[in-house]
Amino acid sequence: MATKRFEGREHAAVYQKYRFAPGKELKQTILSYLQEKKAIPAELAVDVGCGSGQGTHFLGEHFKKVVGTDISAAQIQEAKDNPGMPNISYLVCPAEELPFQDGSVDVLTSFTAAHWFDIERFMREAERVLRPGGCVAISTYTVDMSVRYGDCSEKLTQIFRECWDQMLKYSHARVKYVLDNYQVIFEALPFPDKKRVTDIYDPIPMTVEGVVGYMESASSYQTFKKSDPTAATSLLQETEKRMLETMGVSSRETPVEFLVRHVCVLGCKGR
Ligand SMILES: C[S@@+](CC[C@H](N)C(=O)[O-])C[C@H]1O[C@@H](n2cnc3c(N)ncnc32)[C@H](O)[C@@H]1O
Repeated sequence: MATKRFEGREHAAVYQKYRFAPGKELKQTILSYLQEKKAIPAELAVDVGCGSGQGTHFLGEHFKKVVGTDISAAQIQEAKDNPGMPNISYLVCPAEELPFQDGSVDVLTSFTAAHWFDIERFMREAERVLRPGGCVAISTYTVDMSVRYGDCSEKLTQIFRECWDQMLKYSHARVKYVLDNYQVIFEALPFPDKKRVTDIYDPIPMTVEGVVGYMESASSYQTFKKSDPTAATSLLQETEKRMLETMGVSSRETPVEFLVRHVCVLGCKGR
């Protein structure tokens, strides 16, 4: 069964503000695969579970037409309010019922979203809408990020992970697909020609505010906030305070580097 999350307008706005786009290494991993399979240049790419368009934008440079799709009207509104290239459009629809004809899509992507889908139904849809020789790239970032700043990176990462540990208690069971590095999603992809890459590292430039905002945008934090707003707010306030004290700075705008690991499942439908 599909899972509804990220639906609220407030959550979508936080998401749009703090979620980062795919970094250079992830983009390169996907583009190299598409080049190897001769899947680009091509007509149509569909980005499923596009949220507010974080991953959708970069596809605009490589396809004639890009459609970002998401089950959440609030996320799609945020995406439309922050448009990228003119060849990108957005629509609200579930990943399990894509409004595209059989064999009409060249490349189907999904960034940090597939674990929320009904995986079997989504895979059937992917197989149906892709043309022969079309490709999928289904990625997620994992939860083992690190935060880097001068010589206190280890301590900052520990503070970040302690905060995550508190939030993980409120995470949905589907986060297990991320924790197993998309192994289940890889196995469910019905193409014999496929591979899974689990060690894609991207340094993302951030600020202290950005790191805290990223945690606020997590669905587990939003669940925590609904169940205990005071404790949830004070967890983030305390985390920010500890980070600033550790760094010896007072501004939440202070730049830090967020080192993110991605997992990516890549596959090509037989011709
Ligand atoms: C963690 S966000 C990822 C958004 C964006 N792709 C990114 O890289 O940041 C997951 C997105 O998947 C969407 N989603 C969840 N279940 C879905 C489903 N069954 N069909 C389509 N979208 C879904 C949510 O609304 C949300 O926008």
